[in-house]
This record gives sequence, C-alpha cells and structure tokens, in this order.
Amino acid sequence: MSDSITVSGYTREEKYLSLLPQLKALAEEADQYAALGNIISAIKYGMGFFWVGLYVVKNNELVLGPFQGTVACTRIGFGKGVCGTAWKNKRTIIVEDVNSFEGHIACSSESKSEIVLPVFGKNGEVAMVLDVDSDLIADFTAVDETKFIEVVRIIESIINR
Ligand code: SME
Repeated sequence: MSDSITVSGYTREEKYLSLLPQLKALAEEADQYAALGNIISAIKYGMGFFWVGLYVVKNNELVLGPFQGTVACTRIGFGKGVCGTAWKNKRTIIVEDVNSFEGHIACSSESKSEIVLPVFGKNGEVAMVLDVDSDLIADFTAVDETKFIEVVRIIESIINR
C-alpha cells in the first residue's frame, strides 16, 4: 500500500529516491552525533513518518538515542518489545498492527505500525536498532525494508569508521 500513497505530491518511492543521496551527504559530517541527528531528522521530515529514532545498545539494554517525534521510552530490555526482539533475533521486524504484537511497548497511542532494523557494529554485534513508526496500520512493506536496509548501511558507515 505504501507505493501508491502520495504525500505532498510525491510517491513514497520518489521520497526514498530523494532521501538516500541526502543521507549519504549528511554522513560525511565527521562528528558521529551531528551526522546521526541530521540523518534521523532527514528521514522523519523527508518521509513524513510519525516517529523515527535509534536505540543504542548500552550495558545490555537499549537506550534512546537520536530521534524525531514525540517523547519516547528511554530504556528497552533485551528481547523486550519490537526493538528488543529485533536486537535479540538480529533481524528486521515489520509489525503491521502494533496491537497484535505481543509485548509491544507503546510509547504513543498514535503509533499503529512499525519497522525495526538492527544496526551492526564492527564485530557483527547489534550496536543499535533503527525504529520507524507510522500512525497508519500496515504502513510498511518489503519495499520499505529494502530501502531502510540501505539507510542502515549508511548509519553503519558512520558508527564503524
Ligand atoms: N514500540 C517500540 C518501542 C519504541 S517506540 O515505538 C518509540 C517497541 O515495542 O519496542
């Protein structure tokens, strides 16, 4: 369903096409925090999703990192919620309806569907997860996953240099 939706006159595919080169340019900033902050902002405002952010693995839990959107949960345990499960399984999770994901952590009642992808560190460990939430049910498909894998590779290039 995502490909046919147009917001501000652009299809989602067109938005991804415009977003990815922007993210590569923003990744050239040498400071990791400056680069990651701008990248999250570019995704949020370029794509129009409800909430976009990184949770960072610190002392065996996920801690809220750079994000754009409403105030969010700050700490998530290993295997907890969608984010903790993506971390544990080292795999992307697409949740079509957050109410049907057992253990989903609701930071906002506006969030209806989400995609969470692991971001890998130098040694193949999960260093962060990228969490993107939509206020529409079933807003993410395999097309979004393919594009967000490219986004994650850009984030990995920043944190592993
Ligand atoms: N829904 C996530 C928690 C993070 S917020 O959506 C920003 C989860 O279940 O892990």
